[in-house]
Amino acid sequence: MKIVFATGNKGKLREAREILGEGYELISSAEAGVTEDIPETGSTFQENSLQKSEYLYRKCGVDCFSDDSGLEVDALGGAPGIYSARYASLGGDLSIDHNFESNIDRVLHELNSLEFKAIAAGEKPTERTARFRCCVTLMIDGEPHFFDGSCEGKIAYERTGNGGFGYDPIFLPDAFPGRSMAELSEDEKNSISHRGQALRLMADWLKTRGVK
Ligand code: IMP
Repeated sequence: MKIVFATGNKGKLREAREILGEGYELISSAEAGVTEDIPETGSTFQENSLQKSEYLYRKCGVDCFSDDSGLEVDALGGAPGIYSARYASLGGDLSIDHNFESNIDRVLHELNSLEFKAIAAGEKPTERTARFRCCVTLMIDGEPHFFDGSCEGKIAYERTGNGGFGYDPIFLPDAFPGRSMAELSEDEKNSISHRGQALRLMADWLKTRGVK
């Protein structure tokens, strides 16, 4: 099946190609002729994901899907959440596209400060629980269909590993104790990841409906 993936994120595209496998020919938004940043002004992963798929469908009129995803850290009230890609700019100029390194620095700084304050006040250490979440919106004949995935874990004290992208070096998935997401092989990450779950649900749905 030939389908457009509404993303400019090379990490997401690489993983989606791996997860969906040979039966799918994935075209990036740029390859479909959409090179501008697709607006994301919603307040949930699902709203943003729908917005991206609708935008692409309006511009190209082809079947497509999008992935809105991010990291939720419990002690930070669910942040960075929908602002994961631009967390280092939050509270400042959100149009500045910060890189993965400065986003990671902000999460570690905020979490470590909370932990330091808790210890100084004689309270129990801050929980470092977190999860990656992903909402995929598949647009078939102009109708949206939603698929979700989430992956539980904890935030490490420092970066380890070179694989994956984004927050992977500081995310310790519960499913692989003692290793960060960036230390897993591609297959290992895809087998447990938020994106792997959501895209496999989408592939099952397409198969059941016989969409080719
Ligand atoms: P989006 O393009 O608005 O969906 O932003 C997603 C952001 O969430 C990415 O830029 C990453 O910072 C983060 N993110 C999403 N999925 C992953 C993942 O699998 N690993 C690490 N970071 C991720």
